[in-house]
Amino acid sequence: MVRFGVALLLLSPGAFAEDAPVLFAPMNESVVAPGNLRVVGKAGGKAELLLDGKAARFESPAPGVVHAELNPAPGLHELVLKGEGGEAKAAFFSGKEHGDWKMFRPHPPIPGIGCDTCHAVKNGEWAFKRATLSPVCHTCHDLAAFPKVHTHNTGTLVDCQNCHYPHGSTAKGNLRAARDVLCRQCHDLQ
Ligand code: HEC
Ligand code: HEC
Ligand code: HEC
Ligand code: HEC
Repeated sequence: MVRFGVALLLLSPGAFAEDAPVLFAPMNESVVAPGNLRVVGKAGGKAELLLDGKAARFESPAPGVVHAELNPAPGLHELVLKGEGGEAKAAFFSGKEHGDWKMFRPHPPIPGIGCDTCHAVKNGEWAFKRATLSPVCHTCHDLAAFPKVHTHNTGTLVDCQNCHYPHGSTAKGNLRAARDVLCRQCHDLQ
């Protein structure tokens, strides 16, 4: 009933390791809360970030990593991240709602959470600070409270990022995908 192989294939950190640029946050065709917008992406070569066609400032904490804090006016916008191998685009709406686009919610940007909460530069490359992220998550999230919302034992839950995506998502609870899609990664559901 439980299939591990598929999950490991879909969720290994190398899954995004193509050459073309990727925008992780915000997601394409999503609504973002007005005010500060955190942009996270990756792009090889000489990267260029454009908001509505104009160059936007960003920092690169490691080669290929793109991080910007923008403050777009309310309304419709387009982000383009250019780099080696092409470009990534994300249309987003700053405000409350826009047609059937879903709200993009990042992990609450509380004080004390920066890129270096989870990541570190190792041998000049962007990597995770630790082999598993759960000790990082558990500095704030109490393990004892977990059975209330999680059906799994702690061994299965240890890789929080198998189900949650802290950069943000359009699914409730920062889930990586809609619930049923997520469960099907490991379970055969009828
Ligand atoms: C709370 C933990 C957490 C924080 C904070 C965080 N990330 Fe991440 N990051 C992750 C997870 C989880 C992944 C996805 C790994 C996977 O796909 O399995 C990831 C993946 C990435 C990737 C893609 C890596 C690759 O090889 O494809 C980049 C780039 C990245 N993060 C940049 C950032 C930047 C820049 C910041 C700060 C603005 C940041 N992250 C903050 C947890 C975090
Ligand atoms: C520095 C403290 C801190 C760290 C580290 C941290 N969180 Fe959180 N997280 C919070 C706070 C505060 C909230 C908002 C209150 C709450 O829901 O508990 C939150 C909310 C959440 C939510 C609910 C989001 C929603 O939309 O309902 C999820 C899911 C979550 N965190 C997962 C994680 C995961 C997975 C990690 C590790 C990759 C992590 N958190 C690391 C403090 C933290
Ligand atoms: C097998 C998938 C899975 C794994 C692995 C997982 N979670 Fe969750 N988590 C969920 C689901 C599903 C929800 C419920 C989301 C919803 O609909 O509100 C949830 C909810 C949460 C919430 C919100 C709790 C609330 O009160 O609403 C937090 C915080 C959270 N998870 C943290 C973590 C942390 C930290 C880890 C790693 C130790 C982890 N999760 C591992 C699936 C998972
Ligand atoms: C990363 C792989 C993975 C994902 C994703 C996953 N599961 Fe599981 N699930 C397991 C494993 C392994 C077990 C058996 C060990 C355990 O209980 O943790 C299990 C056990 C269960 C059980 C106990 C049933 C039994 O036969 O013992 C339920 C219920 C369950 N999962 C529901 C879900 C739901 C609902 C989701 C989606 C939110 C989900 N699972 C996502 C791996 C996963």
